[in-house]
Amino acid sequence: MYRQAIYDEPLIYDLGKKGRRAHLPLKTDVSPIDINIPESMKRKEAPELPELHEGEVMRHYLHLAQMNYCVDSGIYPLGSCTMKYNPKINEALARAEGLAYTHPYQPVETIQGTLEMMYELQKALTELAGLPYCSLQPPAGAAGEYTGLGLIRAYHQDKGDFDRDEIVTPDSSHGTNPASTVMNGYKIIEIKSNENGQVDLDALRAAVSEKTAGFMITNPNTLGIFESDICEIAEIVHESGGLLYYDGANFNAIIGIIRPGEMGFDVLHYNLHKTFSTPHGGGGPGAGPVCCSERLKEFLPVPTVEYEEEKDFYYLNYDLPKTIGKVHGYYGNTGIALRGYAYICALGAKGLIHTSEQAVLVANYVMRKVEAIDGLRLRFNRNLPRKHECVIDASPLKHQIGVGAMDIAKMLISRGKHAPTVLFPLIVHEALMIEPTENENKESIDQFVQVLKEEIDKARDNPDYAHDAPYWTSVGRVDDSWAVKNLILSYKMIKNLKTKGEWPPKWPEDHH
Ligand SMILES: Cc1ncc(COP(=O)(O)O)c(C=O)c1O
Repeated sequence: MYRQAIYDEPLIYDLGKKGRRAHLPLKTDVSPIDINIPESMKRKEAPELPELHEGEVMRHYLHLAQMNYCVDSGIYPLGSCTMKYNPKINEALARAEGLAYTHPYQPVETIQGTLEMMYELQKALTELAGLPYCSLQPPAGAAGEYTGLGLIRAYHQDKGDFDRDEIVTPDSSHGTNPASTVMNGYKIIEIKSNENGQVDLDALRAAVSEKTAGFMITNPNTLGIFESDICEIAEIVHESGGLLYYDGANFNAIIGIIRPGEMGFDVLHYNLHKTFSTPHGGGGPGAGPVCCSERLKEFLPVPTVEYEEEKDFYYLNYDLPKTIGKVHGYYGNTGIALRGYAYICALGAKGLIHTSEQAVLVANYVMRKVEAIDGLRLRFNRNLPRKHECVIDASPLKHQIGVGAMDIAKMLISRGKHAPTVLFPLIVHEALMIEPTENENKESIDQFVQVLKEEIDKARDNPDYAHDAPYWTSVGRVDDSWAVKNLILSYKMIKNLKTKGEWPPKWPEDHH
């Protein structure tokens, strides 16, 4: 079954009527003729824009906003993507004129406040990482990975070691890990996890060699399990001549409790937008600062933010002869850095530790409640506590009634809940990866679990109810593979399809 709801809504372009206006133009004595735009740059035709009155514009944007789901709408248990508590004051701070309206080409004397904030944030991040050098430039976690691996490559090449072309990573690793590995020109050597969902040390020993450039891992890993053999792992990797990369996307489980530098890591990236405030998701701007050890510092991207104590002066240093270059425009996403800095300052050392404890507590609470539901089970060693997230396997339910993780996600959406991450990590077939925001309260988690249980009960009465979900949403069950192969990204594409009579799309009869 497939519903047309969203396609019945007229698009904003179709709503318009020539001559409708939402504003009264200001009276001005500047005539367009006074503006000296070269003829070659002037439009030949008026832009194709909808003409609407104010009410229509308001309804359009309100409707779009209502179709959105965010951490301010309700529980957001999306594993790995960690929806943080985003204090609203940080949003206000990031819009403060002194920061938001600075220009990246302003002389450094005029942006001392911004540079001081960046410098102090670097200091805090290096302290938490246990790694002394930092660049705030990468604009996302994946970009941080790309940068960190770039440092590893530059390090080996600087030593004349050009044969190290392999990065080893566990089969539980996040999809961006192999992607950034390949983008750095490395081969991926994937090793299997053991029965506890941790790195298999024998497999690691067999995988490393004189070809190993590094080992990339997140700890706790994507199953939410802490790699308790991490010191031994570091030893094995370092003995082979490789370096250890820490994917800090799961840092929210360990802030102020354990430091990656002390576990033996040489380089890490943070996901500021996951661990230190900033609304995450929807592809908005992020920040993936990289911290590294002494031996990698000379390869950091330029510019680095430095401080000259004698002159009490902050400046940008482009003078790193061995730098890997730039990885983002200017100095990175400073608005995201500011949110992270404000978050760290507001919480302080104790508050940050408490945040992690809280993240671990809510993840373990939801885990025990969800695994108790008939048809769901916790994969890998049940006795190992999880950290910030847990991975529940819906395979038993799939075998019992043919209802899997994707169906469960869609049923939850019908009930106005955000779904957990599904079908990831790949080593759990019917994975539901659940990670509540650390400040989610018990009542809200209990209600989420109750809804989950009720929906599974409904599916037991009628599995097709699950297969046809979601209900009451602007888009029904879509055919994911059709959508991937037929990307429709613009109004023009829809218009073309409409002209050809191919819109709305027809799904195959048997799709689910
Ligand atoms: C474990 C892990 N590593 C890396 C990333 C990539 O981060 P980003 O989405 O900021 O690129 C994520 C993202 O969710 C993640 O969960």
